[in-house]
Amino acid sequence: MTIAETQDMPEPVHRRRGAVGVHSIDRFVFTVPDLAEAERFYRAFGLDPRPVDDRLDLYTFGSSHCWASLYESGQAKRLEYIRFGVFEEDLDAMRERIASCGITSAPHALSDRGGLWLRNPDGTPIQLVVAPKVSPSAKCQPLPPSPHLPGQGSAPARSRVQQVRPRYLSHVLFFTPDVSRVVTFSIEVLGLKLSDRSGDGIAFLHGPHGSDHHLVAFAKSHAPGLHHSSWDVGSIDQVGCGAEQMRAAGYDQGWGVGRHVLGSNYFYYVRDPWGSYAEYSFDIDFVPNDLEWPSADHPPEDSLYVWGPSVPDDFITNHEPCA
Ligand SMILES: [Fe+2]
Repeated sequence: MTIAETQDMPEPVHRRRGAVGVHSIDRFVFTVPDLAEAERFYRAFGLDPRPVDDRLDLYTFGSSHCWASLYESGQAKRLEYIRFGVFEEDLDAMRERIASCGITSAPHALSDRGGLWLRNPDGTPIQLVVAPKVSPSAKCQPLPPSPHLPGQGSAPARSRVQQVRPRYLSHVLFFTPDVSRVVTFSIEVLGLKLSDRSGDGIAFLHGPHGSDHHLVAFAKSHAPGLHHSSWDVGSIDQVGCGAEQMRAAGYDQGWGVGRHVLGSNYFYYVRDPWGSYAEYSFDIDFVPNDLEWPSADHPPEDSLYVWGPSVPDDFITNHEPCA
């Protein structure tokens, strides 16, 4: 059975005992200047972008789940809203929690208007919907290595490399003007758990019911925004081949290949047409539903990467305007 054939057959889901909180990023939604350019970029990246009415939906091949929706605005790229999935039995408790905090919100105009609506402290609209858990419930396994036969090369001919196709959305990193404030909100309202942070510069949070080391992360900036979406691939070779396939498609700006400290994943970030990034990620740490992650505050020089090229000067630039 291939990886693609197994993507709609998730691992069994087990709740964290006593925890009420979101289990997945069900979808992230943003506007871009040009949908045709977005479709070219994400198709080259190895996703399955599908035009639907006035938007572009992003799928991974072999999965029926839509991970992101993009709308054309003719203006600078902008994060519009984030949709999280919750278990049905948690919906009433989440509704009461949001009401008691006085943070209910009207549905976003680009949404289906369902579920519960609130705003985070940055003003970003958040939708909570009852949905299947699409974050992993177990450590995602690497692809089997290519066979090493004595007397034969194991690397493929360059002309025979297959397109890299990510398996699932691992996490999204957002900009925020106040990391501590949005971390407190994420823990107390959304029920997320802090994995690691580096002071007030960046923080990583995981889902309580099992998720990658970070389901969401926040980096300090002048305004809210979308920094990158991260997509799991099956080997470090696929990280490198992904970088190569994007260079061949004309997207030659990025950062990597390298290895992160916090999360431990191997990475390559490719710059999208709007100055934000899409990440190929392999072998990120996983936090099971029944274990406590040893959360810590790390010095900046010991938090970003173990090895790799120097960070590009504009890597942490937020191109989104203030609200
Ligand atoms: Fe990332």
